[in-house]
Amino acid sequence: MSKVAGNLEGGTAGVSRTKAWKALQKEYAKMKNFDLRAAFKQDPERAEKMTFEAGDLHIDVSKNLINDSTLKLFEELANEINLKQAIEDQFTGKHINNTEDRPVLHTALRYPESKKGTLIVDGQDVISDAWEVLNRIFAFSGAVRSGEKRGVTGKKFKTVVNIGIGGSDLGSVMVYEALRGYANSNITVRYVSNIDPTDISEKLKDLDPETTLFIVCSKTFTTLETLTNARIAKKWLLGNLRTLGADKRDAISKHFVAISTALDEVKKFGISAENTFGFWNWVGGRYSVESAIGANLAIIYGEEVFRDFLSGFHAIDKSFRTNPFSSNPVVILAMLNIWYVNFYNAHTHAILPYAQYLHRFPAFLQQLTMESNGKTVRADGSRTDIQTGEIFWGEPGTNGQHTFYQLIHQGTRLIPADFIAAVNPTHALKDDDGVSKKDVHELFLANFLAQTRALAFGKTADEVAAEGVPEDLINAKVFDGNRPTTSIVFRNLTPAVVGSLIALYEQITFVQGIVWGLNSFDQWGVQLGKVLALEIFPALSTDDDALNAQDSSTRALIKFYRENRE
Ligand code: F6P
Repeated sequence: MSKVAGNLEGGTAGVSRTKAWKALQKEYAKMKNFDLRAAFKQDPERAEKMTFEAGDLHIDVSKNLINDSTLKLFEELANEINLKQAIEDQFTGKHINNTEDRPVLHTALRYPESKKGTLIVDGQDVISDAWEVLNRIFAFSGAVRSGEKRGVTGKKFKTVVNIGIGGSDLGSVMVYEALRGYANSNITVRYVSNIDPTDISEKLKDLDPETTLFIVCSKTFTTLETLTNARIAKKWLLGNLRTLGADKRDAISKHFVAISTALDEVKKFGISAENTFGFWNWVGGRYSVESAIGANLAIIYGEEVFRDFLSGFHAIDKSFRTNPFSSNPVVILAMLNIWYVNFYNAHTHAILPYAQYLHRFPAFLQQLTMESNGKTVRADGSRTDIQTGEIFWGEPGTNGQHTFYQLIHQGTRLIPADFIAAVNPTHALKDDDGVSKKDVHELFLANFLAQTRALAFGKTADEVAAEGVPEDLINAKVFDGNRPTTSIVFRNLTPAVVGSLIALYEQITFVQGIVWGLNSFDQWGVQLGKVLALEIFPALSTDDDALNAQDSSTRALIKFYRENRE
C-alpha cells in the first residue's frame, strides 16, 4: 500500500481525539432538551441564517437539530482536520486513493473546455484529455441521432442497449429517468445490468437487431455480469443478422460501442477503435456518469443537454472549493451527517425526492455513499474506533408517505431525511384535460412542506386533546417532532440541477470520508464475493469435489438446487 496522501497522514485517523470532536460531544450533551419549536421561536431569522445556495440549489438546513454554536463547531472540526488541504489534494490530483495509488479526479471531467491545459497531473493534461473524449462522444452521438451512423443493413438506429453494472449503469439509469422531460429524439434506451438472464432476455425480446446499438460500459472490461451480457448480445445480434447476409465483422463494428479504461480488453472483445471511448483510472466507477460512461445520455438527450448537465457539476465543485466552511453547503451537509451518525447514533439516512423523475436517485446514492464510506479500516490501515457510513434509502414522495413515513414520524429511531423538490414541474401546466395541473403540483408541494413541518414540530398532547381526542387515544396520536430534515429545492429539474445534485452528494461523501479518515475511493469489500462465486459455480453443476469443499449450509443449499433444477 502506498503512503497515505496529504493531510490524511496521521491527522484524521483519530478524529475522535480532536478538540472539536470533544466539544461536539459536550454540545450533544447540551442538546438533550433541544426543541425545534423553541429554536424557531427564539430566533425568527433561523431559517434565513441556515439556508444556503449552491449552484441552482437552495438548501435549508434549519429544521435540523443544531444551533448556531453547533454550526460553529462543525467549522472548527473542518479546520482542525485540515479539510482545506484535503479538498486541494482532491482537486489537484494527489494520490488520495492510496490503496490503489491513484488520484481522484472526476472533477476534471466537468471543467469548462476553456480550462484545458490548466491541470497537469502525473504529466497528463487531464482536462484536455477529458474534452478530447467528450468531443468524440458528441460527434458520435450526433451522428447516431442524425442517422449518419447506421446499422450494418443501412437502417437508422432506434434503440440503444446500454450494458454495464454498478457505476457503469446506475448513474446513466438515474440520469436518464431524471431527464425524461427533456426527451428530444426518436431513439430509446434500455439498460441491462443483472447477470440474471431474465434481464437481458426481457430487454432484447422485441428488438430489431438491424436498428439496435449496443454500448458496453465497463471500467475494467472484466466484470463478469457485463462481459457475460455483452457476449449474449453479440450472439443475439450475429444470429439474427446472419439471416440477412450481414458480414460478421461489419455487424460488430457497426452495432457495438465500448466505454472502458481497459482498451486492450476491448480490442480482444472485437470492438473497433473508432467505436471505443476511453476514460482513466482516476475516475472511479461510481463517479463516472459524466465521463464517456454517459455516452448513452448524449445519444438520447443530445450534446446541449449533456453540456448543461456538466455545468451543474462544476457549479458545485466551485462552491465546495471556494466557499468558507461557515457557509459551505457541502461541508455543512456532510457535518450534519457526521453529527447524526456519530453523536445521535443514526443508522440510516432517507432520501425523499418530491419529483417522480428522481425515483432512482436514492438507489444511485446507495452505491455512491455506501461503496465509498462503508469501511472499517481507515486510509492509514488502522481500524476505526467510531461508526462510519450510513444506510441510504428512500422512495419518491408522496408514495413513501403511504408506506414507511409512519416509522420516521413516530418510530423509536432517528432518521435524518433529505427532501428534494422542484418549484416547477417538468411538464407544462396546461389544463388540456380538464385537470388543473398547477393545482395538482401545488398539492404535491404542499405535501412535501407538510411533511417537513410535521417532522420538525410534531403535535403535543395538549394539541391532540384540544381536538377532542379521547384520553386513551391521546398518546397514540402525539407526534414528538424534532425529527431532522434538510430541504433541497430548485426552480426546475434541469440537466444542470441533476449534475449539481450528483456533485453535491459526491462531495458530501468525500468530506465524511475525510472526517472518518477513510479512503472513500476504493471498494475492496466487493471482491470476496466475486471470488467465491467462481469457486461455487462448478459445484452447482456436477463437480462433487467443489460441492464437498463448501460449508454445511452452502452445501445443503446447493443440494436443494441440484435436486430441484429442471
Ligand atoms: O463490484 C463493484 C464494482 O467494481 C463497482 O465499483 C463498479 O462500479 C462496478 O463494479 C462495475 O465495474 P466495471 O465498470 O469495471 O465493470
